[in-house]
Amino acid sequence: MASPAGKVSTACPQIPEIPAAAAVRPVPALGLGTASFPFVEEDVRAAVLAALELGYRHLDTASLYRSERAVGEAVAEAARRGIVKSREEVFATTKLWCSQSHPDMVLPSLRESLQNLQMEYVDLYLVHWPVAAKPGEPQFPIKREDIMPLDLSGVWRAMEECHRLGLARMIGVSNFTTKNLQELLAIAEIPPAVNQVEMNPSWQQKKLIKFCKDNGIHVTAYSPLGGQSKSNAVLHSEVLEDISKATGKSVAQISLRWIYEQGASMVVKSLKRERLKENMEIFDWELSDEDRLKISQIPQHKRVRLTGIVSPEGASSVDLAELDIVEL
Ligand SMILES: NC(=O)c1ccc[n+]([C@@H]2O[C@H](COP(=O)([O-])OP(=O)(O)OC[C@H]3O[C@@H](n4cnc5c(N)ncnc54)[C@H](OP(=O)(O)O)[C@@H]3O)[C@@H](O)[C@H]2O)c1
Repeated sequence: MASPAGKVSTACPQIPEIPAAAAVRPVPALGLGTASFPFVEEDVRAAVLAALELGYRHLDTASLYRSERAVGEAVAEAARRGIVKSREEVFATTKLWCSQSHPDMVLPSLRESLQNLQMEYVDLYLVHWPVAAKPGEPQFPIKREDIMPLDLSGVWRAMEECHRLGLARMIGVSNFTTKNLQELLAIAEIPPAVNQVEMNPSWQQKKLIKFCKDNGIHVTAYSPLGGQSKSNAVLHSEVLEDISKATGKSVAQISLRWIYEQGASMVVKSLKRERLKENMEIFDWELSDEDRLKISQIPQHKRVRLTGIVSPEGASSVDLAELDIVEL
């Protein structure tokens, strides 16, 4: 199973692309994540440029990350230097933050993102979370009292309008559970093409992945290496370390290869050129059945929770526990 999901792209020979239902273009299996803590614009710009040089074409940003400008400048610079022929070669994703998730704010927010990105369109525009916050500039964490229920129908109509206007080639969601997706599928004229969720060997999301597959929704894994906090259940996994020792592949590569074998694409953050390169070297080998079995038995732990994006103090009129569903 050298290439379970996709064919090799001509624009970017080492990274395969995965066809997504309703897709205008397939999704490159590996992308660069640009949420970086602490955020240093120049470092992110340099990482995006290095990634493009190495052959990455999929770039993941969001209005929240403040990295849209750096992504746009790096793509423009790459086009000037002939690293990419044009912006068309790039698969750019950005996201609508909770404080912008109001029907009348969707189109203006996308226009602002496009201006930051110096682009006429994004390849994929995502609703970042299935909750809204008081209208305003993106802020993290969200003040507890600012959390509001999402007007899913109104926001999705506006997302569909972004697509019809040609400003978003595909539209999708992020952090949506099967229940959120069922509600969306019931009202959508244009179904979501993608659900971007936390996914790695420590949070495998079997039920959600199956639901997405059954409903033609492509999954993109975020935090594929367990995220940026110090306690990291993926990079410090004993099971992955054992497989790493036996195969000579790094723990990071084992995790990324496992994700690829599930048919998902992934966005990985690194500001280091060597790691960007290492993370690409996962497409010409495969895990053994024995290794897959060991990985399937890793204890599961969801790291990113709704309560983690909301300030601990203050009172909310919305029942966060009801929204913060964890499904195995
Ligand atoms: N939709 C959402 O709600 C959401 C949430 C979280 C993240 N995301 C997206 O997903 C992207 C990736 O997720 P993430 O940023 O949480 O973390 P991640 O990709 O799991 O990476 C975690 C850390 O691993 C390090 N790393 C990278 N390659 C490595 C390697 N080969 N060996 C050892 N360490 C390595 C990186 O540090 P160095 O830079 O030092 O290499 C990085 O800080 C984000 O940047 C963002 O674009 C989306």
